[in-house]
Amino acid sequence: MRIAEIVNVIPTCRLIAEIGCDHALLTERALRTGKAGAAVVSDISADCLNKARRTLKGYDNVTFTLCDGAPQGVNADCLLICGMGGHTVRDILSRYDGDATLVLSPQSHSELVRDALEKMCYSISVDYCFEDGGKYYDVMRADKGDMTLTDMQKKYGRFYDRPTDALRARLTRMLAQLNGNAEANADRIAEITEVLSCPK
Ligand SMILES: C[S@@+](CC[C@H](N)C(=O)[O-])C[C@H]1O[C@@H](n2cnc3c(N)ncnc32)[C@H](O)[C@@H]1O
Repeated sequence: MRIAEIVNVIPTCRLIAEIGCDHALLTERALRTGKAGAAVVSDISADCLNKARRTLKGYDNVTFTLCDGAPQGVNADCLLICGMGGHTVRDILSRYDGDATLVLSPQSHSELVRDALEKMCYSISVDYCFEDGGKYYDVMRADKGDMTLTDMQKKYGRFYDRPTDALRARLTRMLAQLNGNAEANADRIAEITEVLSCPK
């Protein structure tokens, strides 16, 4: 479900590069469904890259690269950076100077990623929260272009004023925790209440 949800966000592309591929399940689905014509998969860990080799056995249009961050000299039209924390995604983006479409699904601290995209002159066209197996995930797609985000958009998503059911459920759960110490969490509670008051 998480894999399918993220792959749905990938545009049809000639060459996709998955950074931090691990098993490369996202790339495998992107190739199998025709979203990507060819792929570069990379990982900082040799063991993880070997998992990707096993998953993608039989595909002759894949290059495997052991490296930290985006592989050099690869002219991919879409970069996939998913399943890592927001600090790591931001660090990888800070060392990338290309102009590929970005499909990103940070596991935490999505606000750092949105802030980085704004500074890199990328504009977010897709940004939503979904649920899979009781966990909540953000997924975004961004292309080169101007964008200015408010603090609320950085924290809760560019389109927080049209919250998905999953974002509502995630924030409702968070609100219940914050209410345990309502005085100390007053600012956060006010923000979340604002998001939850937005129409569907
Ligand atoms: C949880 S897996 C995510 C796998 C896949 N992208 C997905 O979402 O299903 C994270 C992977 O990122 C790799 N990784 C972490 N930091 C990295 C970096 N700076 N450059 C490349 N790969 C990195 C890890 O070795 C690990 O295999």
